[in-house]
Formats: sequence, structure tokens, C-alpha cells
Amino acid sequence: MSLSRELKPNIYAVGAIDWDRRLFDELIPLPDGTSYNAYLVRGSEKTALIDTVDPTMTDVLVRNLEELGINDIDYVIANHAEQDHSGSLASILALYHNARVVCTPKCKDMLMDLLLIHRDKILTVEDREVISLGDKTLEFIHASWVHWPETMLTYLREDRMLFTCDFLGSHLATSDLFVTDEATVYEAAKRYYAEIMMPFRIAIRTNLHRIKDLELNIIAPSHGPVHNKPDFILTAYRDWASDDVKNEVIIPYISMHGSTKKMVEYFAEALIERGIAVKQFNLSEPDIGKLAMAFVDAATVVIGSPTVLVGPHPKVVYAAYLANALRPKLRFASILGSYGWGSRMVEQLAGMIPNLKVEILDPVVIKGVPKEADFKALDRLADEIVNKHKELGILIE
Ligand code: FEO
Repeated sequence: MSLSRELKPNIYAVGAIDWDRRLFDELIPLPDGTSYNAYLVRGSEKTALIDTVDPTMTDVLVRNLEELGINDIDYVIANHAEQDHSGSLASILALYHNARVVCTPKCKDMLMDLLLIHRDKILTVEDREVISLGDKTLEFIHASWVHWPETMLTYLREDRMLFTCDFLGSHLATSDLFVTDEATVYEAAKRYYAEIMMPFRIAIRTNLHRIKDLELNIIAPSHGPVHNKPDFILTAYRDWASDDVKNEVIIPYISMHGSTKKMVEYFAEALIERGIAVKQFNLSEPDIGKLAMAFVDAATVVIGSPTVLVGPHPKVVYAAYLANALRPKLRFASILGSYGWGSRMVEQLAGMIPNLKVEILDPVVIKGVPKEADFKALDRLADEIVNKHKELGILIE
């Protein structure tokens, strides 16, 4: 039985759905699985395969091609060298002897390094170079840093289709070929953006700009369902990658003996009373994808931690490291928490987030359980955040 599906005449989805995968890079949770989309484009003279699949699912790709009766492939377009898309290249080249890999010059080096593909098998293309398949034309658009330096997009001119690999995709295993449930896909695409694309927000904007004049009927990423209403995902990306922040405070925290938890609960209520949305995350067993998603929009983060060996709790260190690596567009940050006999938590945490271009608001770090004066200090911090959000125009009375 073949899983290949026709997207348009002579254009097929031939990739694999991975319903069971729960972790990517041994780091990123995949609550809804994922897919590794590959596409076959048959022109009147030549045939191209766009991207391959994760090496664990090579058999699915090969079976799909066999079921379609594909005896010859001229080009395998490698939009991205990461192994979930390039990992089956060697197997495909072994089966289809005439095939040449088409990619950017940087991608060529990476395919040779990562997958030991022989240099003679690889054709490099410059930005906006085209390859004719006869009645179909592939145009290659270099799109660095979505999310590696070698990435490119492939535009199928006659069908107004853009193959974007990771860009504009979502980790979502679904039998839907096209987006049907926009709310579900929005959530999955936002999670994907947060975990993978957010550190490259400026490059995302550049690349959105580069494709803005293309006529687009379909955007076909290599994860998740295909967009037959491209504006849906383009509008979402424009919003996420913009400099606009929302009237939201993220509170990632952990508490050992309850003092920090008391402070967090009081502080969250103080913010909500003042008209600010709160996203509170207990870091004892966090879904780091959810936490990353919160960082896409929020104006402010307030980290809550007890003191462990004079520094922040190690699980807070992990969250701070992650936030620093993801480079969200936060504007303000602060810290709250408690200690038993002494703490250098504030200095240590502040030193861990150099990538965050934030104004640090006065932390509230107290000795022992919170007392009346400590709650007042939390009220003062909430008031300060109100003022800052008002100055940005994101909190309107
Ligand atoms: Fe889906 Fe960057 O690989």
C-alpha cells in the first residue's frame, strides 16, 4: 500500500508520517509526532525529488516511489542538510544512479561532512538559479538561517508552489495532506517556530521579505500539513517574527519548601489584578516547548527560584540557558525568590542571559518565608511592570 498522495497533477507527497516520535534532537518534545515530507515533481522531461526523509523511515519513501512507478530520478533537491530531510539521500542515490543532488554551495560541504555524499554527485545552485524539468521550472531561493546557514527554498513556478523544508512547517503527525484544522496547526507551527526558528527571528524576517513578491498557491513544508491557504502561515510568521510584544508576563519558577511558590502565586495574582496576562510554568517537570511558545510573544519574564548552594536552582539554570539560547524578543526581566542564609542568585542568573536585550527590573529576593514587607515589594514590582507595559502601549487602561 502506498502512502503517496497527489498534490496537483504530476506533483506527489511521498514522505513519511512519524506518529510515534516524541523527542527531537534528544531535547525537543514532539507531543503530536511529526512528518518528514518529501515531494516528487514530474516534468515532461525530468523528474525531481524535493527533500528526503529521516533515515529511520527511508523504507517508506522508497516504497512510495516504487508504488508510483518511479524508475528514474534526475535531481534530488536538498533544501536543508539536517538529517531528518537528508538522511535518506545515500539510499536514494544508490537506488537511482542518475540522480544528482541539488543544493547550495554551503549545503554541499555539509552533505559531504555529515553524510559522506561524494562531491561528484552534487550540483550547487546560486540564488535564483533555475532548473528546467521540461514543462515545470524549479527556482532556488537561498534562505540562510532558517534555521541552518545552508538552507534554501524551492519555487515551482508553473504551479506557484513553494517548498520550504523546515521554514513555515510544524511538528504534527496527521493524515491530513492539507491544513484542515487551523487551530491545531497554528499551535504546532508556533511550537515549531519557538523551538527552532525563534533564535533566527531577524533572518526569518529577511526571508519572509524575499518571498513576498512570489505568487503562491501552495506552501509545502517538510514537516506537517501543506498550506493551500498560504496567508494563514505567512501572517502568523510575520506576527511572531515582528518586534511587537504582548502584555504578558512569563513566570518560570521552582520552589523547594514553598516560599518561592507563595511569592509566585501572590505575584501572579497581583499582575492579573492589574490587567496583565500571566503564563506561569512550574519547572519541576516542564514542557519546554510550551515554555518556548510563551517566549514568542511576552514582553516580560520574571524568574522564580529558591537558592541552592548560593545560586539559582539547577532547573531554573536550565530554563535561563534555554531562554538565552532562544533569544526571544522580551523587553523586561526580573527575579523573585527566597534564600535561607545567603544568596548570589541574582548576579548568577543575570550573568546567564547576555543574549536577552532586556531591562532588568529590581528583583525581590527575600530571606525565608514571605512576610508583609515582601508582599509589598512584589506589589511594587507588579506596579513597575504595569508602568513599563503602559509605556510600550501594550497595556491600555
Ligand atoms: Fe527538520 Fe532542521 O530539520
